[in-house]
Amino acid sequence: MNGFAPSVNGIASSVNGSSANHTEKPQTIFEAVAARIPSRAALAAKLMTKYRDSAIHEVTVENVMNGMRGLPCVLWEISESSATGVKHHTKTLTQLEVELPKWPGSTQMSPEAMLWFLYTARIPTPAELETFAADLSRRAEVPLEAQTFLHALSKDISPESQIIMLLTFLSRYSKFNLALANGISKDELWKHALEDALDLSARLPMLVASVYAKAHGIEKTEHLRSSDLAHNFARQIGKDDTDFVEFTRLCWSFYMDHGASVSSHAMRLVSSAWTEPYTTVATGIIGGTGPLHAKAIGDSVKFNLKALSTLGSDPSKEDILDYVANCLSQGKIIPGYGHALLRVPDARLEILRRFLETHPSSDPNVHSFLSLIRSMNDSVPELLRERVRGMKNPHPNGDALNGCILHAYGLPSDYLLVFFACSRAMGFMTQYIWDRALGLPMERPLSLTMDELLTKVQSAQK
Ligand SMILES: CC(C)(COP(=O)(O)OP(=O)(O)OC[C@H]1O[C@@H](n2cnc3c(N)ncnc32)[C@H](O)[C@@H]1OP(=O)(O)O)[C@@H](O)C(=O)NCCC(=O)NCCS
Repeated sequence: MNGFAPSVNGIASSVNGSSANHTEKPQTIFEAVAARIPSRAALAAKLMTKYRDSAIHEVTVENVMNGMRGLPCVLWEISESSATGVKHHTKTLTQLEVELPKWPGSTQMSPEAMLWFLYTARIPTPAELETFAADLSRRAEVPLEAQTFLHALSKDISPESQIIMLLTFLSRYSKFNLALANGISKDELWKHALEDALDLSARLPMLVASVYAKAHGIEKTEHLRSSDLAHNFARQIGKDDTDFVEFTRLCWSFYMDHGASVSSHAMRLVSSAWTEPYTTVATGIIGGTGPLHAKAIGDSVKFNLKALSTLGSDPSKEDILDYVANCLSQGKIIPGYGHALLRVPDARLEILRRFLETHPSSDPNVHSFLSLIRSMNDSVPELLRERVRGMKNPHPNGDALNGCILHAYGLPSDYLLVFFACSRAMGFMTQYIWDRALGLPMERPLSLTMDELLTKVQSAQK
């Protein structure tokens, strides 16, 4: 790969029993996943035999009434998420920032390396990463039919609607569906799913770029086989600027997975019935359109821009608090604050801030916008703690800043959802593969009415 051969910053490491070092024969992604299956399948078998009837949690009425919060009931292969943050195969994002390989000249995690790590639970060797990245790059071409379909869509349709339509259209190329139609052993299903997962991971950024390029009248740019996903995306949308590419790498690496969030859980549920990857990802994007979840990224940009136009670039703390208190008194949700699971400050926010410190903008307007957000982030938690009774985490979350930085780089707020969908889709595909590799069944919890819930509680108390 010309000029983009990955250099390894950290050392090849061993996680959960899988190991590789530079002297071992490099594995393809298919070989690396296959190598891990026996140990994970053995663990699954042990849990389902020796411990099958063991209790791990008592289900309370609060768990049921509160959207299953606190209930450890969704099996997740690639990470564990808790009130203190997420760990991918036992490693924190901060550890991965240090250990994952970076592209030459880059200071950010490589999304390709993160993806390999999520699939295999080990850091790729340089040779493995080079092969993997080249394979993804080869798969990035969007079929001509899909390009024609896209160009037939009106520019007025929102980017997420266009992407959802394109993804469901692309399901006709699903190798997983083809294998199912031809009859296939369940043990082999994951391989066909992985073909789709890799195609999709490479194609989705190109689809988003195509939608953007169509809307902004940008000529199609040649896809550089020698380059990485983030750089090719930036080129296609006419933002081939080092800081934008670096920020894209950063965001795509660390937004891949956060356990059973709305978008991921939506994908998990739908794919548990063996829906192919393309339609599965469309479901995840639909899950992200809610203002309590990923739509908050764009809403946060709008909220902060409005605050900037109302308060000016250097408001006092009192002005900020009055402004936000006024929003709250109108019954508005403050986007970018609070979290359904985290009870500590969001580690991703710290990573974003560090990026800003090391990549400061020379544009005074951008500077005013980002410094207003910083002042908001510092002042608002105190007000929320006081005014929003029962709010469990008044701190800003990553969505208070991530979209605002992209906006400062010139990415319009209506593209933020699909920009982040690229990352979440890539990350969820790693879970998809493991669900098929382990032969996990379709999700089917019991549902119950409040009357039944009351009856259960009362009979338990007798
Ligand atoms: C993320 C979020 C959905 C979590 O919701 P949750 O699990 O119900 O959070 P809590 O239990 O702390 O909420 C308690 C109360 O505070 C309110 N609250 C929480 N965050 C709030 C916010 N940012 N602005 C105003 N009110 C908020 C809730 O609506 C809830 O009100 P209710 O008791 O009247 O129903 C919520 O904090 C939110 O809406 N944040 C803004 C959107 C956002 O940034 N989403 C991205 C998250 S990564």
